[in-house]
Amino acid sequence: MIESVVFNKEKGRLELLDQTRLPVETCIVNCQTEHDTAMAIVGMQVRGAPAIGVAAAYGIVLGLNNPQNHEKIFASAFESICDLLAATRPTAVNLFWAIARIKEAVACAGSSDFASAAAVALHKADEIRAEDIEMCRTIGRYGASLLKDGDTWLTHCNAGALATAGYGTALGVFRAAQEQGKKFKVFVDETRPLLQGSRLTAWELMQEKIDATLICDNMAGSLIRDDRVQGIVVGADRITAHGFVANKIGTYPLAVLAKYNGVPFYVAAPDSTFDMSIKYGDEIKIEERDQDEVRYIGGQQIAPKDIPVYNPAFDVTPPELITAIITNKGIIRPIYRDTIPEFIKPDQCREAK
Ligand code: MRU
Repeated sequence: MIESVVFNKEKGRLELLDQTRLPVETCIVNCQTEHDTAMAIVGMQVRGAPAIGVAAAYGIVLGLNNPQNHEKIFASAFESICDLLAATRPTAVNLFWAIARIKEAVACAGSSDFASAAAVALHKADEIRAEDIEMCRTIGRYGASLLKDGDTWLTHCNAGALATAGYGTALGVFRAAQEQGKKFKVFVDETRPLLQGSRLTAWELMQEKIDATLICDNMAGSLIRDDRVQGIVVGADRITAHGFVANKIGTYPLAVLAKYNGVPFYVAAPDSTFDMSIKYGDEIKIEERDQDEVRYIGGQQIAPKDIPVYNPAFDVTPPELITAIITNKGIIRPIYRDTIPEFIKPDQCREAK
């Protein structure tokens, strides 16, 4: 199994499969401190909502083990470590959820020194990681029941093993369908500007020997119109209590295309991606990233150096465009403001702090 986030207990460091280098190079970035971890999240060496949650959880462990913090008062140092990691990326709720879970575990254990808090945090981070893999496998099984033999589906960005602790959400659906012996094809959107589709999803699907074809983002419309796509499945960075879904920029236009052409549009996500503290899409903070991500591809300039650029990393798809949300708790169907609370209970989804 592809493992994007591994904590090496012997060496006391976090080892991340560097997602900025794939598929050209498979290399590991070693994080020794909370600062290294925060930089890896901002720089997208680790990315994808569940994966950044798991990485941040281990980043807290590194912060608690960091001798430079041991001069400080425990409570304020712990808070600063958590704040540093929470400030890395604003949209994916899994990040805040994982940090809240570590804080809660440390508080419940009554830890008030670095060593005992680090032990509690490590145990909880391991638990979050293991749970994430299990949730993805369950999502995969539910999702595979929607994919028929002979279907061709389309996916956007990378919601695979790389974006999670392993197995993936949207790509977990394909993995499970493959395990069940189904025959199907996948179209992969390249996903400008950072090309998570062509660099990561294409690589992952090829590793699994899943029949995948890469397309540029602007080719999806004609494929869908020509009846060459029977289903679309994407991941999510945050889902509100009423079913608004923030995901990689370009998800919303795909959902509109799907609705217009009568193709089912599915979102696959674990319960850690639900933010039950908000109802509507405009309550989600959308990350805007560096303008050079659009002006350059792989270090190669492809636009005038100083052309102004708009670069939101995510968009929001409204609930009326979503056929179903595939979760580890089951397949949620509309009307989401009624059905989501039936599946996602507050004790399963602690609100983001
Ligand atoms: O900016 P990224 O690459 O972190 O965005 C990732 C996505 O939008 C994924 O679809 C989402 O996080 C779900 S990953 C299971």
